[in-house]
Amino acid sequence: EDIPVITIDGPTASGKGTLADQVAHALGYVILDSGSLYRACALAAHRGEVDLDDGEAVAAVGANLNLSFKNGHVWLDEEDISEDLRREATGLMASQVAAHPAVRAALNQLQLDFRRLPGLVADGRDMGTDVFPDAGLKVFLTASAATRAERRHKQLISKGISANIEGLRQDLEARDARDKNRAASPLHPAADAKMLDNSAQSIEESTQRVLAWWAQTR
Ligand code: C5P
Repeated sequence: EDIPVITIDGPTASGKGTLADQVAHALGYVILDSGSLYRACALAAHRGEVDLDDGEAVAAVGANLNLSFKNGHVWLDEEDISEDLRREATGLMASQVAAHPAVRAALNQLQLDFRRLPGLVADGRDMGTDVFPDAGLKVFLTASAATRAERRHKQLISKGISANIEGLRQDLEARDARDKNRAASPLHPAADAKMLDNSAQSIEESTQRVLAWWAQTR
Protein backbone atom coordinates (compact mmCIF):
# COMPACT_ATOMS: atom_id res chain seq x y z
CA GLU A 1 0.00 0.00 0.00
CA ASP A 2 1.05 3.60 -0.56
CA ILE A 3 2.17 5.64 2.42
CA PRO A 4 -1.04 6.49 4.34
CA VAL A 5 -2.21 10.10 4.60
CA ILE A 6 -4.89 11.81 6.69
CA THR A 7 -5.72 15.37 5.63
CA ILE A 8 -7.30 18.00 7.88
CA ASP A 9 -8.45 21.14 6.10
CA GLY A 10 -10.53 24.04 7.31
CA PRO A 11 -10.68 27.77 8.00
CA THR A 12 -8.38 29.85 10.18
CA ALA A 13 -8.29 28.97 13.90
CA SER A 14 -10.63 26.01 13.55
CA GLY A 15 -8.19 23.94 15.61
CA LYS A 16 -6.63 22.03 12.70
CA GLY A 17 -3.10 22.27 14.07
CA THR A 18 -4.00 20.94 17.51
CA LEU A 19 -6.15 18.15 16.07
CA ALA A 20 -3.45 17.18 13.56
CA ASP A 21 -0.85 17.05 16.37
CA GLN A 22 -3.06 14.80 18.50
CA VAL A 23 -3.92 12.43 15.66
CA ALA A 24 -0.30 12.24 14.47
CA HIS A 25 0.85 11.60 18.04
CA ALA A 26 -1.70 8.81 18.57
CA LEU A 27 -0.66 7.06 15.34
CA GLY A 28 3.05 7.87 15.47
CA TYR A 29 2.75 9.63 12.10
CA VAL A 30 4.74 12.47 10.57
CA ILE A 31 3.04 15.88 10.65
CA LEU A 32 2.84 18.58 7.99
CA ASP A 33 1.63 22.03 9.03
CA SER A 34 1.37 23.36 5.48
CA GLY A 35 0.39 26.85 6.68
CA SER A 36 3.87 27.16 8.20
CA LEU A 37 5.38 26.81 4.70
CA TYR A 38 3.21 29.64 3.35
CA ARG A 39 4.05 31.68 6.44
CA ALA A 40 7.81 31.04 6.08
CA CYS A 41 7.69 31.90 2.38
CA ALA A 42 5.83 35.15 3.10
CA LEU A 43 8.21 36.05 5.92
CA ALA A 44 11.32 35.36 3.82
CA ALA A 45 9.91 37.41 0.92
CA HIS A 46 8.96 40.27 3.23
CA ARG A 47 12.42 40.30 4.81
CA GLY A 48 14.02 40.27 1.37
CA GLU A 49 11.85 43.25 0.44
CA VAL A 50 10.19 41.29 -2.34
CA ASP A 51 6.83 42.69 -3.47
CA LEU A 52 4.23 40.24 -2.06
CA ASP A 53 1.94 40.96 -5.01
CA ASP A 54 4.61 39.73 -7.44
CA GLY A 55 3.77 36.01 -7.66
CA GLU A 56 6.82 34.98 -9.70
CA ALA A 57 9.23 36.81 -7.40
CA VAL A 58 7.66 35.31 -4.25
CA ALA A 59 7.63 31.86 -5.90
CA ALA A 60 11.39 32.17 -6.51
CA VAL A 61 11.82 32.81 -2.78
CA GLY A 62 9.59 29.80 -2.03
CA ALA A 63 11.57 27.51 -4.35
CA ASN A 64 14.82 28.40 -2.56
CA LEU A 65 13.65 28.27 1.07
CA ASN A 66 16.18 26.64 3.36
CA LEU A 67 13.81 25.36 6.07
CA SER A 68 14.28 22.76 8.76
CA PHE A 69 11.81 21.38 11.28
CA LYS A 70 12.90 20.22 14.72
CA ASN A 71 10.81 19.57 17.85
CA GLY A 72 7.90 21.66 16.61
CA HIS A 73 10.21 24.59 15.80
CA VAL A 74 10.94 25.96 12.33
CA TRP A 75 14.37 27.21 11.23
CA LEU A 76 14.98 29.48 8.23
CA ASP A 77 18.67 29.22 7.34
CA GLU A 78 20.27 29.30 10.81
CA GLU A 79 17.47 31.19 12.58
CA ASP A 80 14.59 29.87 14.69
CA ILE A 81 11.62 31.76 13.16
CA SER A 82 8.88 29.92 15.11
CA GLU A 83 7.74 32.98 17.01
CA ASP A 84 7.64 35.28 13.98
CA LEU A 85 5.70 32.62 12.07
CA ARG A 86 2.83 32.57 14.58
CA ARG A 87 2.15 36.31 14.42
CA GLU A 88 -1.21 37.39 13.03
CA ALA A 89 0.59 39.76 10.62
CA THR A 90 2.52 36.79 9.20
CA GLY A 91 -0.76 34.87 8.72
CA LEU A 92 -2.17 37.76 6.73
CA MET A 93 0.94 37.98 4.56
CA ALA A 94 0.77 34.20 4.08
CA SER A 95 -2.78 34.38 2.75
CA GLN A 96 -1.65 37.15 0.39
CA VAL A 97 1.19 35.09 -1.15
CA ALA A 98 -0.90 31.87 -1.07
CA ALA A 99 -3.24 33.37 -3.68
CA HIS A 100 -0.50 33.20 -6.37
CA PRO A 101 -0.58 29.94 -8.38
CA ALA A 102 3.21 30.16 -8.89
CA VAL A 103 3.78 30.24 -5.12
CA ARG A 104 1.50 27.22 -4.60
CA ALA A 105 3.38 25.33 -7.32
CA ALA A 106 6.74 26.22 -5.74
CA LEU A 107 5.65 24.85 -2.35
CA ASN A 108 3.98 21.73 -3.72
CA GLN A 109 7.00 19.39 -3.85
CA LEU A 110 8.12 20.55 -0.41
CA GLN A 111 4.75 19.34 0.93
CA LEU A 112 4.85 16.01 -0.93
CA ASP A 113 8.28 15.33 0.63
CA PHE A 114 6.61 15.06 4.06
CA ARG A 115 4.88 11.84 2.98
CA ARG A 116 7.06 9.31 4.76
CA LEU A 117 6.47 6.05 6.61
CA PRO A 118 4.67 5.12 8.78
CA GLY A 119 2.24 7.81 7.56
CA LEU A 120 1.39 11.49 7.41
CA VAL A 121 -1.16 13.83 8.95
CA ALA A 122 -1.31 17.02 6.86
CA ASP A 123 -3.24 20.14 7.83
CA GLY A 124 -4.04 23.21 5.75
CA ARG A 125 -6.55 24.50 3.23
CA ASP A 126 -6.07 22.26 0.19
CA MET A 127 -4.46 19.10 1.56
CA GLY A 128 -7.39 16.85 0.60
CA THR A 129 -8.44 18.73 -2.53
CA ASP A 130 -5.08 19.38 -4.26
CA VAL A 131 -1.91 18.22 -2.58
CA PHE A 132 -2.94 14.72 -1.38
CA PRO A 133 -6.09 13.91 -3.39
CA ASP A 134 -5.52 10.16 -2.75
CA ALA A 135 -5.55 10.54 1.07
CA GLY A 136 -7.23 7.64 2.87
CA LEU A 137 -9.16 9.99 5.15
CA LYS A 138 -10.04 13.64 4.52
CA VAL A 139 -11.47 15.74 7.33
CA PHE A 140 -12.93 19.21 6.86
CA LEU A 141 -12.87 20.90 10.26
CA THR A 142 -15.06 23.88 11.04
CA ALA A 143 -16.17 25.91 14.04
CA SER A 144 -18.31 29.03 14.24
CA ALA A 145 -16.52 32.36 13.73
CA ALA A 146 -17.45 33.33 17.31
CA THR A 147 -15.88 30.14 18.72
CA ARG A 148 -12.75 30.59 16.64
CA ALA A 149 -12.33 34.22 17.68
CA GLU A 150 -12.78 33.24 21.34
CA ARG A 151 -10.15 30.50 21.09
CA ARG A 152 -7.67 32.81 19.38
CA HIS A 153 -8.37 35.42 22.09
CA LYS A 154 -7.68 32.92 24.91
CA GLN A 155 -4.47 31.83 23.21
CA LEU A 156 -3.21 35.41 22.96
CA ILE A 157 -4.21 36.32 26.52
CA SER A 158 -2.37 33.23 27.82
CA LYS A 159 0.75 34.57 26.09
CA GLY A 160 0.25 37.96 27.76
CA ILE A 161 -0.83 39.64 24.51
CA SER A 162 -3.96 41.78 24.78
CA ALA A 163 -6.48 41.51 21.97
CA ASN A 164 -10.00 42.53 21.09
CA ILE A 165 -12.41 39.66 20.27
CA GLU A 166 -14.40 41.65 17.74
CA GLY A 167 -11.21 42.71 15.93
CA LEU A 168 -9.93 39.12 15.91
CA ARG A 169 -13.22 37.91 14.49
CA GLN A 170 -13.05 40.46 11.70
CA ASP A 171 -9.46 39.43 10.88
CA LEU A 172 -10.44 35.73 10.79
CA GLU A 173 -13.39 36.41 8.53
CA ALA A 174 -11.29 38.56 6.17
CA ARG A 175 -8.67 35.82 5.89
CA ASP A 176 -11.37 33.13 5.35
CA ALA A 177 -12.97 35.21 2.63
CA ARG A 178 -9.64 35.60 0.83
CA ASP A 179 -8.88 31.84 1.14
CA LYS A 180 -12.36 30.82 -0.11
CA ASN A 181 -12.64 33.27 -2.97
CA ARG A 182 -9.22 32.99 -4.59
CA ALA A 183 -8.96 31.27 -7.97
CA ALA A 184 -5.99 29.04 -7.05
CA SER A 185 -6.91 26.12 -4.75
CA PRO A 186 -9.69 27.91 -2.87
CA LEU A 187 -10.67 26.61 0.55
CA HIS A 188 -13.53 24.13 0.11
CA PRO A 189 -14.25 20.60 1.35
CA ALA A 190 -13.22 17.72 -0.93
CA ALA A 191 -16.22 15.83 -2.31
CA ASP A 192 -15.22 12.82 -0.17
CA ALA A 193 -14.35 14.78 3.01
CA LYS A 194 -15.86 13.99 6.40
CA MET A 195 -17.30 17.18 7.91
CA LEU A 196 -16.48 17.86 11.55
CA ASP A 197 -17.78 20.90 13.45
CA ASN A 198 -15.89 21.15 16.73
CA SER A 199 -17.61 24.29 18.10
CA ALA A 200 -19.03 22.27 21.00
CA GLN A 201 -16.38 19.53 21.12
CA SER A 202 -13.29 19.07 23.23
CA ILE A 203 -10.01 18.34 21.48
CA GLU A 204 -10.15 14.78 22.89
CA GLU A 205 -13.60 14.23 21.38
CA SER A 206 -12.50 15.48 17.95
CA THR A 207 -9.36 13.33 18.10
CA GLN A 208 -11.36 10.21 18.97
CA ARG A 209 -13.80 10.96 16.13
CA VAL A 210 -10.97 11.16 13.58
CA LEU A 211 -9.23 8.04 14.92
CA ALA A 212 -12.54 6.13 14.71
CA TRP A 213 -13.00 7.24 11.07
CA TRP A 214 -9.42 6.21 10.35
CA ALA A 215 -9.97 2.77 11.91
CA GLN A 216 -13.00 2.31 9.61
CA THR A 217 -10.87 2.87 6.51
CA ARG A 218 -8.29 0.26 7.50
O1 C5P B 1 -3.07 27.67 8.62
P1 C5P B 1 -2.35 28.99 8.70
O2 C5P B 1 -3.12 30.07 9.39
O3 C5P B 1 -0.97 28.85 9.25
O4 C5P B 1 -2.16 29.45 7.18
C1 C5P B 1 -1.78 30.74 6.83
C2 C5P B 1 -2.31 31.07 5.44
O5 C5P B 1 -1.62 30.26 4.47
C3 C5P B 1 -3.79 30.76 5.22
O6 C5P B 1 -4.64 31.85 5.54
C4 C5P B 1 -3.87 30.43 3.74
O7 C5P B 1 -4.04 31.60 2.97
C5 C5P B 1 -2.50 29.88 3.42
N1 C5P B 1 -2.53 28.43 3.28
C6 C5P B 1 -2.91 27.90 2.07
N2 C5P B 1 -2.90 26.56 1.86
C7 C5P B 1 -2.52 25.73 2.85
C8 C5P B 1 -2.15 26.24 4.12
C9 C5P B 1 -2.17 27.60 4.31
O8 C5P B 1 -3.28 28.63 1.17
N3 C5P B 1 -2.50 24.43 2.61
